[in-house]
Amino acid sequence: MNFADTELVLGILKQQGYSLTKEIDEADVILLNTCSIRDNAEQKIYARLVHLKGIKRNHPGTVIGILGCMAERLRKNLIEEEKIVDLVVGPDEYRRLPEFIDSAFAGGKGISVKLSRTETYDDIIPYREEGLNAWISVMRGCDKFCTYCVVPFTRGRERSRLLESIVSEIKCLSAKGFKEVTLLGQNVNSYLDGNRDFADLLAACSSIDPQMRIRFTTSHPQDLSDKLLYTIAEHPNLCNSIHLPVQSGSNRILELMNRTYSVEHYLTIIDKARKIIPGISFSTDIIAGFPTETEEDHKMTLDVMKKVRYDGAFMFKYSPRQGTKAFSMTDDVPEEIKAKRLNDIIELQQSVSYELNQTLTGTEEIILVEGLSKKSEDFLFGRTGTNKIVIFPRSNNLSAGDYVKVKINRSTSATLFGDFVELVNPANQDIARTA
Ligand code: 5AD
Ligand code: SF4
Repeated sequence: MNFADTELVLGILKQQGYSLTKEIDEADVILLNTCSIRDNAEQKIYARLVHLKGIKRNHPGTVIGILGCMAERLRKNLIEEEKIVDLVVGPDEYRRLPEFIDSAFAGGKGISVKLSRTETYDDIIPYREEGLNAWISVMRGCDKFCTYCVVPFTRGRERSRLLESIVSEIKCLSAKGFKEVTLLGQNVNSYLDGNRDFADLLAACSSIDPQMRIRFTTSHPQDLSDKLLYTIAEHPNLCNSIHLPVQSGSNRILELMNRTYSVEHYLTIIDKARKIIPGISFSTDIIAGFPTETEEDHKMTLDVMKKVRYDGAFMFKYSPRQGTKAFSMTDDVPEEIKAKRLNDIIELQQSVSYELNQTLTGTEEIILVEGLSKKSEDFLFGRTGTNKIVIFPRSNNLSAGDYVKVKINRSTSATLFGDFVELVNPANQDIARTA
């Protein structure tokens, strides 16, 4: 999400004549796009600010700004205590950045963190480096108010972009040679433009360019409709993987989290999706050590992971966030227990990922070639429709952007390895599915 927002900010600044530099010492303006989701994300920014103090000392004219969720949360501290910061601009006020930068050059300090009910930056063209994969924000904010989560407070109410503007952005990306877009939203499946829902948006996006894979993230179980599942099943370039955060396997904890579903309901959705879209894969988010979580609750989380068998997971220790409802519940799971539970969760996930990947040995996968493997120039890498990384020996006639069939011969928990079988014509193949 922040990656996409950074491209948006670059789009706004480019229009004003700014350009990017890779050398921090050359920069007239340094902007940090921040995240508040957990304490460690905020600590990283404080560490960066210490580093930037040195830069400001050597180049006192440099404008330093904080963008994003921390801006909204810590505006006063950032300007008053972190004296090096000149401007603090929240996620709905990026249009005003040029104005704030101008006044900072003139010695002023600026704060602008108002949240909007309507801002979607529909008309702003994000600045993107050339490439194959693009992120597109299709909705902003969140109305779910999970009790642990700061997002509804830092990013405001849910609002969706116009379907037509998303479609025209994808058309431009397709013309520029992009092969994959990921539609983004905190809660992407509650997208609504008039009476057009997320399934309608996906159907519209998929028909733009059959050679382009469409992914999306993140989905809330409450809004995952049957219509959405049937839409994915119908369109071969809609990727068959869903990121569906479960957060906990205990109904008591889910209720305290205000997640609005039970484990049983969640498992019904997974079963239904697997029937409607054969081969679909799931990934998830899990929080360890939410207030009052017992060993039994924790076991239920491990249990749901064993039942679903996720392809991947983002796993976190609970981090209390000021202003949220959970903040007023006592953070009573001791740090070492949280760490141990997180460790159990990670170990289980790694073994499930490993086992699932082993079952792919001998199968053929269609992958989008993304470039040279990071470890060796003798190998290429790409991804399956289910977003798994595949490494295979380089062949001179192949280049980034090609779709190829690869036969998998071995795997680890994170990576598949295989041999090139043939180049694939994306017009005739399910490019987002297994071969
Ligand atoms: N503590 C730990 N994890 C959190 N997440 C959101 N808020 C918190 C928090 N306070 C996790 C959730 C969410 C993901 C984006 O971040 O799992 O799905
Ligand atoms: Fe936060 Fe996601 Fe819950 Fe929204 S749905 S409040 S972004 S965890």
